[in-house]
Amino acid sequence: MARLLNTADYREAARRFLPRGLFEYIDRGTEDELALANLRRALDDLYLTPSVLAGHPARELATTVLGQSIGLPMVIAPTALAGLVAHDGEVKLARAAARQRIPFCISTQSVTTIEEVRAGAPDATVWFQLYLWKDRELSYRLLDRVRACGVTTLVVTADTPVGPNREYNKRNGFGVPFSYSTRAVLDVLEHPRWFASVLLRYLATTGMPSYGHYPAEFRNSVTRAQIHRAVALENLLNWDDLSELRRRWPGQILLKGVLAVADAIRAADVGLDGVVVSAHGGRNLDVAPPSADVLPAIAEAVGNRIEVLADSGARRGSDVLKYVALGAKAVMLGRAPLWGLAAGGEAGADGLLAMLRTEIDLAMTFLGIARPEETRGRIVRRVA
Ligand SMILES: Cc1cc2nc3c(=O)[nH]c(=O)nc-3n(C[C@H](O)[C@H](O)[C@H](O)COP(=O)(O)O)c2cc1C
Repeated sequence: MARLLNTADYREAARRFLPRGLFEYIDRGTEDELALANLRRALDDLYLTPSVLAGHPARELATTVLGQSIGLPMVIAPTALAGLVAHDGEVKLARAAARQRIPFCISTQSVTTIEEVRAGAPDATVWFQLYLWKDRELSYRLLDRVRACGVTTLVVTADTPVGPNREYNKRNGFGVPFSYSTRAVLDVLEHPRWFASVLLRYLATTGMPSYGHYPAEFRNSVTRAQIHRAVALENLLNWDDLSELRRRWPGQILLKGVLAVADAIRAADVGLDGVVVSAHGGRNLDVAPPSADVLPAIAEAVGNRIEVLADSGARRGSDVLKYVALGAKAVMLGRAPLWGLAAGGEAGADGLLAMLRTEIDLAMTFLGIARPEETRGRIVRRVA
């Protein structure tokens, strides 16, 4: 692990460890992968201007999000099936997040449940990402479980009305539910370290990994043929649903996947506490604009009313600072922590997060600033 010096190194280690189908499910985008490339282009086209002779002996990376003090302007983004990357992957990510004092957002589609994460990482600040199911009553019951675990922050994902067109998954024979195609089986056998330390370990204990939060009566093993309609994702999610969630959920609600100013204003109008400006890591709509391009207008429109977070494409500490410079309070990271987890389990996730902390601190030193928010006004966009 000492040889892993940046997220690209961790990604390479993840590529070696994970079956190709799982690695590509995490790594790639959708259709022609334009969104994925545009996310990087948009971040790479931004500069941060330093002040010289302004070095601060002490830099303070901590900030406040939704009234909670966090150690870095970062949040671990919800990622489905993180528990396939390492055994009990979600618990390991939550523990790593706790060590950096940043929130861990668990996905509705996690392998490990919210109760297991609460028990395994009692010190973690855990947020819950909600994909509303067709059968809303089942979703509301899940939210009761989430509340009972002491979670106060709900992240409602709004940008996935349909399963995206990820052709590589079809080619790899990777799918949720899993298929037992020759290709998929060979892929697993070619990655014996993953097979032994993740899949076999589940098989020997709790059985074939499944979507842990799905109600027992529909708890499909991820190898089963069909997800029952009751727990299919609600493709007709609308603003009335958000108002209803607002009425039911006593804590804070963030709407994730917002890219339009009008949607952010509406989120504030229905009483939500914040938005996550997100292109879903370039995994959903391939012609979506990069978060960095739309974030300034959204922050300008609603930043004084609600909390604005951002994600998609962050790979360096300086990317986190760029999003903060554009108006985000904190930045969610999806793939990078998964690569850390794949590269070295919990220690790998720790190493990855510590590395990003060091990168942020280093960039702040060069910039001559004491706090991440001081990047505001330092951003320059490359003119084509
Ligand atoms: C493997 C994987 C699974 C994901 N699953 C979910 C999910 O269940 N719910 C959700 O809201 N977003 C999900 N996302 C999107 C992330 O929350 C986040 O928006 C995105 O990964 C940020 O981009 P980045 O990976 O470049 O950091 C997933 C992303 C990845 C890579």
